[in-house]
Order: sequence, then C-alpha cells, then structure tokens
Amino acid sequence: MRLDKTKQGWWKDAVFYQIYPKSFQDTTGNGTGDLRGIISRLDYLENLGIDGIWLSPVCRSPQVDNGYDISDYCDIDPIYGTLADMEELIREAKKRGISIILDLVLNHCSDQHPWFLDAKKGPESPYYDYFIWRDAPNDLDSVFGGSAWTYVPELNKWYFHQFAPQQPDLNWENPRLRQALYESIRFWVDKGVEGFRLDVIDQIAKEPDRHITINGPRLDEYLRELSAKVFHPEPLVTVGEAWGADVERAKLHSAPDGSRLSMVFQFQHIGLDQAPGGAKWDIVPLPLVELKRVFAHWQQGLRSSGWNSLFLNNHDLPRTVSRWGNDGQYRVESAKMLATMLHGMAGTPYIYQGEELAMTNIRLRRDQYDDVETHNLFRDRLALGYSEEEILRSVHARGRDNARTPMQWTDGENAGFTTGKPWLPVNENHSFINVEAALADPDSVFYHYQKLIRLRKTMPIFREGDFTLVDPENSKIFAYIRHWEGKQLLVVCNFTAETLAWELPQPFQAARCLIANYPQDCSGLRPYEAAMYYLD
Ligand code: GLC
Repeated sequence: MRLDKTKQGWWKDAVFYQIYPKSFQDTTGNGTGDLRGIISRLDYLENLGIDGIWLSPVCRSPQVDNGYDISDYCDIDPIYGTLADMEELIREAKKRGISIILDLVLNHCSDQHPWFLDAKKGPESPYYDYFIWRDAPNDLDSVFGGSAWTYVPELNKWYFHQFAPQQPDLNWENPRLRQALYESIRFWVDKGVEGFRLDVIDQIAKEPDRHITINGPRLDEYLRELSAKVFHPEPLVTVGEAWGADVERAKLHSAPDGSRLSMVFQFQHIGLDQAPGGAKWDIVPLPLVELKRVFAHWQQGLRSSGWNSLFLNNHDLPRTVSRWGNDGQYRVESAKMLATMLHGMAGTPYIYQGEELAMTNIRLRRDQYDDVETHNLFRDRLALGYSEEEILRSVHARGRDNARTPMQWTDGENAGFTTGKPWLPVNENHSFINVEAALADPDSVFYHYQKLIRLRKTMPIFREGDFTLVDPENSKIFAYIRHWEGKQLLVVCNFTAETLAWELPQPFQAARCLIANYPQDCSGLRPYEAAMYYLD
C-alpha cells in the first residue's frame, strides 16, 4: 500500500526504517556497507512494507563517530559511494514508494571541515565565529566523557564540543552559520530527499557559559527559522532527536501547523532501566509499571496536539530483544511481543535494521569494539577504579556497537554482508538469525512486522484512537485499549517468560484477533504472548 505523499501529514500513516549504512550491505568487498548495497536491498524493504528510510549520515566524514562528524555537508563519503549513487538511491527508492530521509548533523561538524580548519587561523577568519571559543574552559563535560573543551595552542583558545574533540560545536548564534547550513539542506531537498532526521537538535541552542547544553532559550526560535527557511514549503517529514524533551516541549516542537518539526524522538522510556542518578551503564531491571506510565503519558499528552514517534531501537541503543525481551529461548516470541506493544500505539513507528529479524546484542572483547563512546568509557572508568570485567558487563548490555554489527542476510560467510573483512564482527548467530531464513518461514518476526505495518495502514484506529491502560499496576502484563468512533482495539502483552493467568476482558470476547504471536487460545498468557483484538 503506497501513501499519497503530496498530502500534508502523510507521515502520520507511514512506517520508517533506519539504515546504518556502514553495516547494511557491502558491494565492494571493503568491509563497510555502501549506497549500492542499499539499492540492491530495496526490494527487500518494499516487501517489508516501509514508506521511508532514515539513512544515518553518509556525507563526507573522517568517521571518528561513524559519520556524525561531517567534513562536507554536500558530498558523499567515498566509503559509501558517490553523489551519483545517492541520486540513484533516491530515484530507485521513490519508484518503490520509499522516501529517503537524511540525517542532518547540525549541532557540530568535523574538526576536518574546511570551516573549522580555517577558523583555527584566528579571529580574522570568516569562519572563526562559526564555532565557540573561550579563553578558558569551564567544568562542562562532553557526552562521550572528558572535558567539553579542547585547547588550540596556536590561538591560545579553547573550543567547545558536546561530543568528541573531533566534533566541534557550531555556533548557532551566528546568522551566517545558520544560513550556510540552510543552503546545504536545500542542496539535498533539490536532489529529491523527502525528509530529515535532525541529530541532537535540542542541543543547538547551547549557552556553555551558563551551563546550558540542552533546551537553550533560543531553541524554539531556531527551529521556527529552520522550518520557515527550508522545510515549510515542501511536504517534508522532519524528526528531531530530543533527549531533553518532555511532553510540553514535544508538543511545541511538533506543533500541527508545521511551524517547527513533524515529530521528535523522545527518550523517557529508554532511560527507565538506568539506576537513578547513574549513567546509562548503571543498569537496573526494567520497571514495567513505569514503562506503561511513561508510554501512557506520551500517548495521552500528544493526543490533542503534536505527534509521537514510536521506537525501541536505533544505532545508539542496545537491541531491545536482548534488553527488555528474551534473546534465548523466547527470542522470536518476545521480539514479536515488543513490536506488537509498540505498533499498537499512535505515532510514526521506526524500525531499526535487523529489528525485523530479532537480531540480538553481541559480546565482544575490549579490543574488538569500534565505538568512540565505548573506548572513552574504558579510559574513564578504569581511571576511576572499575575492573575491566565490570566495564565489559556494562558495554555488553548497553554499548552502541550492539546495534551496529553487520546486517545478517544469510547463514553464509559474513552473513552475506561482505566478501571482505567486516569493519565490526558479524554476530555468530547469523547461522540461524538471517533474512533468508526469515523470508522462508511464514511465522518469522519479519512477517509479523509486515503484518503490523499493513494493519496500521488499513485501520484508522491506529492513528486516531485514544489510549487507556488496562490494569496499570500490573507489573507483568502491558495491556491497553484504543477507542475510536465506537470501535475498540485491545493490545495485550506478557512481558515475562512465565505463563500468566489472564482472561480476555468484556466486551472483547466477541472481538476479532488481528494479530498474535501464538496460536489462538484465550485462557492465560503464554511466555511473551502478545495479541491485538478488534471490535467494530
Ligand atoms: C546523536 C547520534 C549519535 C552521535 C551523536 C553525536 O546522538 O545519534 O550516534 O554519536 O548524536 O552526533
């Protein structure tokens, strides 16, 4: 089913798929994925039923943070191919009803970007004020550990970076910088890109002297300007990554008049299994009652105004089947359960590559990791006296490389990802978790996703229905009801490996089961059982 993308708000009925290009499909044998690899897999994605691809950054980059450190906003990194490949990808995707959504990294660029190289010549450079310079650092830390300031001896100045030192922050207070960014965005719109994901967008309005990194006072002004100057005349879809968003902010960011963004990625559900006051590495069991409360808060909060994004996975998060499901005996059941729980809600779902196969986390040795954040964690926590074993335990559970191992296409060598040496090890479980096997098995996780996508497109209750939790204090079952124009949808999910006593509530005994991960039997819930029931 294709969406009419000339319609304002088409993205409310869409399902997007995130590709981490480095790990998707290699066609050159150099061990990293590339654009031609993505083109070769478009039929697979069309079969899944998605409407757009959010492509993690493919612009020219020294790859210190896998492309989130851009040195040319208007060119393709040679490891991924050429501008002509990109144009072909946009064209070929469009033929299949698939939009390309580019990842815009506007908070910072690479320290190898010509702007920064020139700025380092000193205040007389026209690019000096594209960045944030001070005579002395303050005590702000970077997200990746260590100080947020790096010294440049030639200038006797410090520059600000919220991420790695190789990712200097851009100074949004400078209107010339903003203009330069808008021009590079227009370059891609002219090439036929149909939307953007905006990296750490709520960090652009930083005011480091006041210790403000997120949600700075000028953020809304910048978003309005960005939208008016580049997004607004087109029916583009825009999604901002906003770690600092609460419901009120998200309402504003996704105001229905299109004056800012289409929606944001918020992360309140993601931090729930993190020890209070700790870092993401400090893990506690998921409090399901809290998870239900947070989802209900967002579903109800953005009902009258604004729009939700729906996701459990991305390239920065561990695989959710390993995290909140069960990646052993009940891998398939729990992956389908998590998908059912999420895709029953209002919002635009995002599927991360391999999620539709229930790909799992990986346990690597310290020297096999690639991620700059993981390396910094070892550096910082070893200095604090943690043992290597303790750190590895955190990395195995939360490290970003869990999500970044190559896509598993076949049970063959390197999972069919590359004929060369993969840049990150392929998970050994590709012997049984792979696309070929999934496509051959009518009961696979892949077909469960395909069915969920179809249901969303054919039944308006998914977009329009309200949201009420059933039994909110139940710490093992996540169930909710959506109502719309006299119709009702019940979603029920067992979050445990136990069989639980449960009865289909009235009036759903007469309901039609739309989708389930076990053969029908309405008494009790089997391990990780999930189903959707519909009454019209
Ligand atoms: C975002 C990206 C992440 C990157 C960071 C810095 O959080 O998703 O991968 O490291 O921004 O650009």
